[in-house]
Amino acid sequence: MFGFFKRGSKEPGRLRIEPLGVDIEVLASQSVLQAALEAGVDFPHSCKVGTCMACRSRLLSGKVKAIRDFSYVLSAEELKAGYILACQAKVAPGEEITLEVDIDSRRPHFHQMTCQGRITAQIPLTHDIVELRLQIDQPLEYAAGQYAAVRPAHIERAREYSFAAAPTPGGDRALGFFVRLTPGGQFTTWLFAESRVGQMLEVTGPGGDFWLRPAPAPLLLVAGGSGLAPVLALLEEAARAGVARDAVFLFGARTQGDLYKLDAIEAIGSRWAAPFQFLPVLSHEPPDSGWTGARGLVTEFLTASHVAQLASRHGYLCGPPPMIDAALAVLAAAGVADRDVHYDKFLDASNLSR
Ligand code: FES
Repeated sequence: MFGFFKRGSKEPGRLRIEPLGVDIEVLASQSVLQAALEAGVDFPHSCKVGTCMACRSRLLSGKVKAIRDFSYVLSAEELKAGYILACQAKVAPGEEITLEVDIDSRRPHFHQMTCQGRITAQIPLTHDIVELRLQIDQPLEYAAGQYAAVRPAHIERAREYSFAAAPTPGGDRALGFFVRLTPGGQFTTWLFAESRVGQMLEVTGPGGDFWLRPAPAPLLLVAGGSGLAPVLALLEEAARAGVARDAVFLFGARTQGDLYKLDAIEAIGSRWAAPFQFLPVLSHEPPDSGWTGARGLVTEFLTASHVAQLASRHGYLCGPPPMIDAALAVLAAAGVADRDVHYDKFLDASNLSR
């Protein structure tokens, strides 16, 4: 399956995407996913760093070169069947490939666009998370759970943040994100240094493959840190739509001071059209603080005794990679099928991504 670039060829690679019937060029500097997104193709993706498998697609013809070996992520059967990760694949100059993309027909499709936004508010939520509110110059449509990339003009690399509110049909001009201060992160260091209200940001979105799949199964939602944003958006939209699925929502934080938006969660729970259970779990709360709620790692509470019908739930997980990886292992052991678990890993600045 893997090939090497033909030295000396100046021709870009060519990519045909089925079943969309789209033909695009792929430059030597681009991944297959990058080329597709920059050509305006709504290619399924989320993490862009080879961990979420949202960009998994099947190579029907031609050869690709792996940027990072995806045999660690894809199974032997998938590799044998020709599956690759588009975010981790390049096309050699002059090479022609055909990829088959698994498009979920229920997946929301919104045109990705770039616009300018002014910061209208920067509201502290915890000691290291702020709610960043923007007013953009044209309505942006997105699905609850998706994200946008934002950057001020003086910073080259955009950072991606999930929309923290349910979208309005037809698009929104007012956007909100939960932004966590990441040590060494250029954007958050700038943002947290002083009030940036009135400053302009470039906004590109929407992106990501985290959205609520319609199904009758009960829900399990797990969020950690600023991973609350997409889960809150997803719950708010579902509550608004009258989704009547039993829901259990576990929110992991370090201390009581790291819990936020509890009033919004309570408001969603009170109008949820089915049983709704919210369980905040604190990992570093001082023993003498008077906290009588759950203590430990949020993943320690993914057990049948804490979550009824655990094996039959559809999981939606958002937060730091160790939390997601631990939750995936626990859910797999509990019998939850892989296809029923969706997640969005929030990486910190050291990972140079989300
Ligand atoms: S693995 Fe490619 S977008 Fe996540």
